[in-house]
Amino acid sequence: MNPTKTKAWTKIQQHFNKIENKHITNYFNQDRLQNFSFDFNSIYFDFSKHRLDEKILELFSELAKEMQLESKMKQLFSGNIINHTEQRAVLHTALRQQDDTPIFVNKKNIIPEIRNTYKRLENFSDKIISGNWKGHTGKKITDVVNIGIGGSDLGPKMMVQALSDYKNHLNIHYLSNIDPFGLDKIIKNINMETTLFLVVSKSFSTQETLTNAKSIQALYIDKFGKESIAKHFATISTQVTKAQDFGISPENIFPMWDWVGGRYSLWSPAGISIMLAVGIENFNKMLSGAANMDLHFKQTDFNKNIPAVSAFISILYNNFYEFETETCIPYAEKLQYLPDFLQQLMMESNGKTVDNESNKIDYQTGDIIWGNVGTNAQHSFFQLLHQGSKIVPVCFMAEKANNSTKHTENHLILLSNMIAQAEALMQGEQNANPYKNFEGNRPSSTILLDKITPETMGTLVAYYEHKTFVEGIIWNINSFDQFGVELGKKLANKVLNELQGKESNTHDFSTDKLISLIKK
Ligand code: F6P
Repeated sequence: MNPTKTKAWTKIQQHFNKIENKHITNYFNQDRLQNFSFDFNSIYFDFSKHRLDEKILELFSELAKEMQLESKMKQLFSGNIINHTEQRAVLHTALRQQDDTPIFVNKKNIIPEIRNTYKRLENFSDKIISGNWKGHTGKKITDVVNIGIGGSDLGPKMMVQALSDYKNHLNIHYLSNIDPFGLDKIIKNINMETTLFLVVSKSFSTQETLTNAKSIQALYIDKFGKESIAKHFATISTQVTKAQDFGISPENIFPMWDWVGGRYSLWSPAGISIMLAVGIENFNKMLSGAANMDLHFKQTDFNKNIPAVSAFISILYNNFYEFETETCIPYAEKLQYLPDFLQQLMMESNGKTVDNESNKIDYQTGDIIWGNVGTNAQHSFFQLLHQGSKIVPVCFMAEKANNSTKHTENHLILLSNMIAQAEALMQGEQNANPYKNFEGNRPSSTILLDKITPETMGTLVAYYEHKTFVEGIIWNINSFDQFGVELGKKLANKVLNELQGKESNTHDFSTDKLISLIKK
């Protein structure tokens, strides 16, 4: 199943050779928008400013068929063990399934357990939001701190910021890094009597999360005694026993399941900070927005299938044009954390060099994605996007209306900049002065949300998840494991022992020198 050995790949290569240097503006005719833009669930996806034609899209659909995308999609949604290296199903989509059609994992229907867990979470979050939940000294909760990292941080943090128009009175904080800077800042800024800590860790063994949680737990025990933990800590984990051993009461432990990957977990109980920030109704709307994208993904032909088309475009750039990276530029500060979230989603999923049959891969995989909000980014790295020697496809993104501000003109200025940047990248401008010449032909997508709502955010995130999935299938890799993060963790434990004088090892000269500089 090497994609580069398929018939379709050869055909794509041949057709690519013909269109490689064609200017995007030459593609524009009456049908361009009809074929390359999609209106779905109050989101307009414009893929027309890309360096491709209808023919290449058809050939990519052929490639997807040859790589058995259709049957892999069925396997994904029905709970087959597609994460074969860890022997797990991949069922984040089950969390947002709107009806009760059974889905079986190890012969057990998982839907009833999902429904029960969300009922428990609903009760829990209602109590916190309404103020019925009292801290150890009898006061209402005002602040919630999510302690978690990677998927147990990035998705919820991104979503809570995106949905800031829907937020209630609770102040939500995120503590992820082991750098004590973050921990100290949180401790300084919250009132322990009115704060709830959520220890979110699928594995309940992540060094950063557990160390931060233990530091805070010690403060409570010191100040209010052991009994206070039950009133100020809850946890979300697959490791219920480990969480109990940590001292968290059973009623405050919510399950996670090994069939939900960390970076796909904002829909799961790991998204509890989203529930607390915007309430269960909005959380459910987010799930239904995602479910709509799931249906579209399942039911639509590949050349009209939004996540699939987007994946085809990224693969075309990655493997044929050999562009090295792509960017995500939200013209919306509410989406400030989206690039960070996408980095984990796309790069942890598809940063692999061994295929599904254990062969070393000899073709490019994995999108390198980076970005920052506009217009700020225009004043930092856009010079390179316009005139640099590297071509970097851009994904622009914004909401049409921003009803939460009186400064509507500012919003229009923001949008005018986004539209102008996409146009400038594509059109360029001839100038006799070579320093002022813009070659143009630089591609971009534009995703325009009617408004940033729980539904549109659900749809948008599910779109990116499925795009990542399609890429993984075409590259014939397992998008759902992440062994690449393990070696560094293992070595860090060793180095820590050495820094603490508990172990002595020899490394290379450079590593030894760094250790000795810190140790003394
Ligand atoms: O180290 C990477 C990783 O395993 C991610 O995949 C995951 O999202 C993150 O760490 C946090 O893991 P956990 O939720 O188990 O603490």
